[in-house]
Amino acid sequence: MNTENSAALYSRAVEVMPGGNSRTAVYSAPYPVYIRSGSGARVTDADGVERLDFLNNSTTLIHGHAHPEMVAAITGAVGRGTSFGMPTPVEVEYAEALSARNETFEHVRFTSSGTEAVMMAVQAARAYTKRPKIAKMAGAYHGAYDAVAVNNDGSGSLISHAVTGNPEGVVANTVVIPFNDAEGAVKILREHAEDLACVLIDPVPWRIGLLPADKAYLDALRAFCDESGALLISDEVGSYRVGYHGAMHLLGSEADLTVLGKVIGGGMPIGAVAGRRGFMSVFDPSKGAPALPHSGSYNANPVSMTSGVVSLRLLTEEAMERIGAFGEQVREALRATIEAVGLDWEVNGLGSLFRVIATSAPEGYPSPAAAMKRLHRELLDEGIHLGDSGLGCISTPMEEADIAAFATAFDTSLRRVLAEARA
Ligand SMILES: Cc1ncc(COP(=O)(O)O)c(C=O)c1O
Repeated sequence: MNTENSAALYSRAVEVMPGGNSRTAVYSAPYPVYIRSGSGARVTDADGVERLDFLNNSTTLIHGHAHPEMVAAITGAVGRGTSFGMPTPVEVEYAEALSARNETFEHVRFTSSGTEAVMMAVQAARAYTKRPKIAKMAGAYHGAYDAVAVNNDGSGSLISHAVTGNPEGVVANTVVIPFNDAEGAVKILREHAEDLACVLIDPVPWRIGLLPADKAYLDALRAFCDESGALLISDEVGSYRVGYHGAMHLLGSEADLTVLGKVIGGGMPIGAVAGRRGFMSVFDPSKGAPALPHSGSYNANPVSMTSGVVSLRLLTEEAMERIGAFGEQVREALRATIEAVGLDWEVNGLGSLFRVIATSAPEGYPSPAAAMKRLHRELLDEGIHLGDSGLGCISTPMEEADIAAFATAFDTSLRRVLAEARA
């Protein structure tokens, strides 16, 4: 693989950024492949190599790269001014569009990232209930806010541990519950019932395997929240794209607050908290000082709002069904290769989201993760961009031929991963 220009860029980057990096998730040893441009389902790297992009900025770009309608709308918005210290008409239009998509999204509040939206949802629950503690699922990732950066490493550990630098008080106020174990979760929740402001879940948590939450689990959490007064928060920053009305609706449950991000920005930075009016009233400044003041220089900026409006409009039920069917095709094709080569790896996911899970280390590899990283590199050689955790997704510009090309490349790459370790 010719990566001469990426290597040169990385050697400059390490001089001015820690490890040459400004986003942990995009680092890959010995250096990442730098991208120069993207168009539709493809990206072109700094050395001019074109690849099919199944990562789409960590599942954000549901319409792929530089979609013509989005480019026209975004450049139009930029030409009218990128942000003001005042609201703009398009934020009303976008809140209306999101609200119309799910009956629980009665009121919407915008932020500039998913991390901020999770933070505001948690703080809203604390302001509403006047309680300090939150509960989250073991291993699940919810962004960089310290209260949720507890047990976010993908492991099933129930003993609260934080990322380095989190104060003890933060860790003590975050209760960890098991995923898809209704009885186990409720037992722990009951011990903290009087202090819990919210139960924060991701209904299709990518970091802990991208399996959907089962109905019994969701029903048990819903019932616990109803009886204890804690709010049920569904973080759908990643999982909103699994269904036209979002993940909780698809799985037959209802959250009090939903956190949105990624796809709702159509490629521009965004986050949102949406929920029933009563809960969202903590943000309301029209009746005196709000219980939860919340500002942000780029909240609801017209560029992100415009991009979001067009992105959501293009996300019709037919478009969602089409990418969902492609997602299923990918899962089946990848599972067939895995079975054919005799591995016990899994391919999970829902709708347009999928993830290859290396459940065991093939002969010659020190760990499953090492084999996955190797597979990631081999796939790059075969013209496919996938996350190095095995995470991937479908974008609307993809065609049947792109799915077939991925299936072939995956088969070739995985066989090479195994053969080269044996050699
Ligand atoms: C479930 C979930 N929540 C929150 C976030 C944070 O969103 P952002 O990266 O926009 O801050 C992410 C990002 O990957 C996510 O997957």
